[in-house]
Amino acid sequence: MGIIETQERIRRLLDDNNAILLAHYYQRDEIQDIADILGDSLALSMEAADTVADVIVFAGVRFMAESASILSPDKTVLLPRLDAGCPLADKITVEELRKAKAEHPGAKVVTYVNSSAEIKAHSDICCTSANAVRIVDSLDADTVLMVPDGNLARYTARFTEKKIIPWKGFCYVHNNLLVDEIQKVKDTHPGAPVAIHPECRPEVVEMADFVGSTGGILKFARETDAQEVIIGTEQGIMHQLKKESPGKTFIPASDHLICLDMKRMTLDDILKALLEMEHMIRVPEEIRAPASLALSRMLEASR
Ligand code: 13P
Ligand code: SF4
Repeated sequence: MGIIETQERIRRLLDDNNAILLAHYYQRDEIQDIADILGDSLALSMEAADTVADVIVFAGVRFMAESASILSPDKTVLLPRLDAGCPLADKITVEELRKAKAEHPGAKVVTYVNSSAEIKAHSDICCTSANAVRIVDSLDADTVLMVPDGNLARYTARFTEKKIIPWKGFCYVHNNLLVDEIQKVKDTHPGAPVAIHPECRPEVVEMADFVGSTGGILKFARETDAQEVIIGTEQGIMHQLKKESPGKTFIPASDHLICLDMKRMTLDDILKALLEMEHMIRVPEEIRAPASLALSRMLEASR
C-alpha cells in the first residue's frame, strides 16, 4: 500500500473509532501530516487531558503515551510502537530519586515529563521545556531538585532565584551537539540566528539567539525577520518549520540530530495499532494517582 492510501485508511479508522492521532514534531513527516494535533510535549499533554475522543493514538515515545493515560485513565491510549522509548527518561531510578530526596530534605522535586510514570509519582510537580522556569517559580520552596535532565536544570537555573540541584541525566541527541559544529554552520551562514533546545549543553545554549521548546522554536522562526535560521534540535521539526514559514531557510546545526526512538514509528505501525487496538498503555492505579497529581499541577500552573 502506498503512503497516501495508508494515510487515508488511518484517517478513516480514526474517524470510525472516535479516535485522535496526537503527534510530536520529531515524528516522520508522513505521520505529522495526518495528525489531529501536532505539538510539543506540553501542547500534547494538554490535548490528552482535554480531548473528548474515546481513543488516543500517540505518535511519539512511551513517556508521552503514559502521560496521556495518566491524565485520561478512562480513555484507550495506544502506542503503536512499544519499543519507542526515551533514553533520557531511563536516566534515573526510583531508588536514586529517593536517595537524592533524602540528601536534600527541604527541596521540592520538579520532574521533566521525559520520565517514567513511577518517577513522576515520586515528584511534587512536572515540567516541560516550555514551562520549566514558570513551574520552578510557582513552588513555595527555595531549593529545587530537577530530574532527570541536567541541561534543562542548568538552563532553568539562569532564570530563577531558587537554588536548582540538577540531576545528571541528558538526552543523547541534544547533548551530542557541540560548539564547534554550530560555529562551522554559523561561519557559512553569517547573520543567521541560532535557535536551540534547552536539552543542549550550557556552552551550546550560550551560543543561541533563542532557546525554547520545539513549539517555542517554531514560534521564533515564524516571527523573526531573519530569512535563514540555524536549528539546534531534532531534525523532524524541519517539516513543520518549512510548512509554517515556506519563504525561509532552516539549516540544521548538525546532521546527527536524529532521535532514533522518535523515528521508530511508521504509518504501517499506526494502521496496525488501529486495526488491532494495540498497544494499550495503562499505568497501575497506585502509580497513576500520584503521577496524575504531579502532571495536573503542571497543567494548572501552565494555563
Ligand atoms: P518538547 O517539549 O520541546 O516538545 O521536547 C520534547 C523532547 O523530547 C525533546 O527532546
Ligand atoms: Fe528523549 Fe532526546 Fe528523543 Fe526527546 S530527542 S525523545 S529527550 S531521546
